[in-house]
Amino acid sequence: ATQSTIDPSIAPLHPPFDPKHPQPESETLEAVIARLGLQQHVEGGYFVETDRDSLRVPNPFTVNDRESESESERDGGTRSASTTIFYLLTAKSPLGAFHRNRGRTVHTLHKGRGRYVLIHADEVASASCPGGYCGDESGGLPEEEKRWTGKARIESFVVGHDILKGERLQWIVEGGKYKSSFLLPDEQGGEDSEGLLISETVVPGFEFEDHDFMRWERMQALVTKEQAVEMKWMLRK
Ligand code: GUN
Repeated sequence: ATQSTIDPSIAPLHPPFDPKHPQPESETLEAVIARLGLQQHVEGGYFVETDRDSLRVPNPFTVNDRESESESERDGGTRSASTTIFYLLTAKSPLGAFHRNRGRTVHTLHKGRGRYVLIHADEVASASCPGGYCGDESGGLPEEEKRWTGKARIESFVVGHDILKGERLQWIVEGGKYKSSFLLPDEQGGEDSEGLLISETVVPGFEFEDHDFMRWERMQALVTKEQAVEMKWMLRK
């Protein structure tokens, strides 16, 4: 195919830096990773938490997708008011695999280029699955609709410094949206990258229990077969 099934105005999504055949890290990037104190992220890429507000706020998220024993578990307890991280993609670790957070995330670009792909799973939430957060893999859809529904809206955009070409310096991802990102060359049409470095601030602050990875079964329940095939390489292995 010459057209993406998620956005007909672009070519099919493919990784310009292959996550399966990572390139060695440049000396400069090794030094940046060391200087910023970055660690490998389970999503891919590197990160460090640079701020965690000491203010605790009530957990605003409804806890309805698991067995909760105590009252305090049911009400979800509290969260840090906000957290901020640096996040870096490089030619050695060029993919941030599909996942979602309950919190809303403000992203700010520092360096480099990348492509984001969002799946608006929360827009197909049903009464049995408020906010799209469900215990089961089907996303709360009836049995006959579990495969290749094509129901979820998909959005993709480039983050980078070429404002006049439409590249974004800031982007917001609302809670409940699945998100993936991958490294693009620094120049459109080029081949090299010195890394994509951003900041992310999550409100309320990040907790692992508010985070989950997209799985193949869930992707099948959200998008068409063609879309799923095009995006399969962006799932966590
Ligand atoms: N720990 C592991 N992953 C993350 C993340 O994405 N954000 C924060 N703040 N901490 C983490």
